[in-house]
Amino acid sequence: MKEIFARASVRSYEDKPVEKEKIEQLLRAAMAAPTAKNQRPWEFYVVENKEVLEKLGAASQYAWPAGKAPAAIVICYRKEGNSAPEMLDIDCAICAENIWLELAHLGLGGLMLGIAPLEERMKIVAEALNLPENLAAFTVIPFGYPKKEKERPDRYEAERVHWLA
Ligand SMILES: Cc1cc2nc3c(=O)[nH]c(=O)nc-3n(C[C@H](O)[C@H](O)[C@H](O)COP(=O)(O)O)c2cc1C
Repeated sequence: MKEIFARASVRSYEDKPVEKEKIEQLLRAAMAAPTAKNQRPWEFYVVENKEVLEKLGAASQYAWPAGKAPAAIVICYRKEGNSAPEMLDIDCAICAENIWLELAHLGLGGLMLGIAPLEERMKIVAEALNLPENLAAFTVIPFGYPKKEKERPDRYEAERVHWLA
């Protein structure tokens, strides 16, 4: 699938908003992700407010792309009432990859920022969004129209594969 190989971490964006239909398509892709026991633990925050984006960009020393992007989706999960709570991080990570691949499909670019499970970063994001007590922030995905195309390396390493024929 070409999107898997086109996907990249995009950290610089055109100064141009992303159309609402495209953002909805990203969210549709997010919610199509599989989850343990189909628990779908998520809530999504779509951030276009510059001030909030800047706060998200201060969540860690690596989070600055959020402060430069026209928009970000924050994947949150509910803390209670999950049928497979030990799988929450995995569910949210798969969901993030779905958004990342859909970005590539739509000609957009972005990346996933490392937030959970680091409490300090999760707290900064929760405060920036004014999250209710029952929600935790998993990751921030800043995105927009990429400033430039990225060359993609072929990362296939035959020596990492162990065939038991
Ligand atoms: C769990 C996770 C957390 C990441 N956190 C950050 C981050 O906080 N800031 C950042 O600039 N990139 C972050 N990245 C992007 C990685 O640096 C990037 O995926 C990796 O260098 C490979 O590059 P590529 O995505 O272009 O293939 C993260 C990626 C993953 C999967």
